[in-house]
Amino acid sequence: MAIEVKPILPRFGAEISGVDISQPLDEATRQQIRDLQDEWGVTVWRDTGLDDAGHVAFSRIFGHVELAPRHPGKPSRMPEPELFDASNLDIHGNINQDPSTRLAAGGNRLFHSDSSFMDVRAAQALLLCHEAPPHGGPTWFADSRGAYDDLPQAMKDRLEGLEATHSYFWSRRRAGYPYTEEEVDAKPSATHPMVLTHAGSGRKSLYVGAHTRDIVGMDRDEGRALIDELIAHATQDKYVFAVHYRPGDMTIWDNLCSLHRGGEYDAEHRRDMRRTTVREQANSSAIADDHYTSMFVTAKDTPFSPAEETVDKVLEKS
Ligand code: OGA
Ligand code: MN
Repeated sequence: MAIEVKPILPRFGAEISGVDISQPLDEATRQQIRDLQDEWGVTVWRDTGLDDAGHVAFSRIFGHVELAPRHPGKPSRMPEPELFDASNLDIHGNINQDPSTRLAAGGNRLFHSDSSFMDVRAAQALLLCHEAPPHGGPTWFADSRGAYDDLPQAMKDRLEGLEATHSYFWSRRRAGYPYTEEEVDAKPSATHPMVLTHAGSGRKSLYVGAHTRDIVGMDRDEGRALIDELIAHATQDKYVFAVHYRPGDMTIWDNLCSLHRGGEYDAEHRRDMRRTTVREQANSSAIADDHYTSMFVTAKDTPFSPAEETVDKVLEKS
């Protein structure tokens, strides 16, 4: 059966069918899938039949799959070290009532590019649904290449050569965590160009999201105003769509040409989502597999337990 491609927006996002990705694939099919991913930026795969091991194995067609970050002293529910737990469940598989987890979920509702705060950026992310809330607990996606294309030439000229800093702790602060500016200053960050050329398509793409903090060499307020303006531009309705999930469905997004955010759903319901992450460079295995964990250790990131009322207030405002 031939692979079928159903576009979601005219140049961004496509639903793919006609290939069983739970089975080993020949090289021609693998290449076809990589090409589709490069072209569409986000692909949606329904009813994949993938289990945890199959999820990790399929992810490897895109390159080096990294180990999921582990917070020191916080055990993971995931059976494979490559799986990142994007669920609302605790280590025992019950709905997580922990206030800081609820706050983190609030942070995930801001449009972002995964791992932009690391020197080695994430490329493809593969998010597989194991359990979904009744209305599918969506993920939203935004087209950073289309958004770049449509910028006025004067803005493209302005962005040429500019770099920005990205910090995990900054996006947490944006989401309501009580970090001060000075505390964020003291934590690790990464610096990346604000416009990149997407290797798989040769198209230019904006690289700005919730982790983006300051523009290098620019006044802080001016830089932040420009960052906010670019995020608002890139997340207009015409660049954005949502995917609702049923168990077995998977989305693959390319963090180097799209933004995404977790959507709203009724927090009373279980949502079990698991993600693998493929690194940007093909030969990036030279960098320590646990670079993420080292970042948290360097940052002395201590688990934070705000009062329930604090979280309610923060989430009401966002
Ligand atoms: C992620 C993420 C969104 C979602 O796993 O990186 O942002 O809908 N997930 O769970
Ligand atoms: Mn994410």
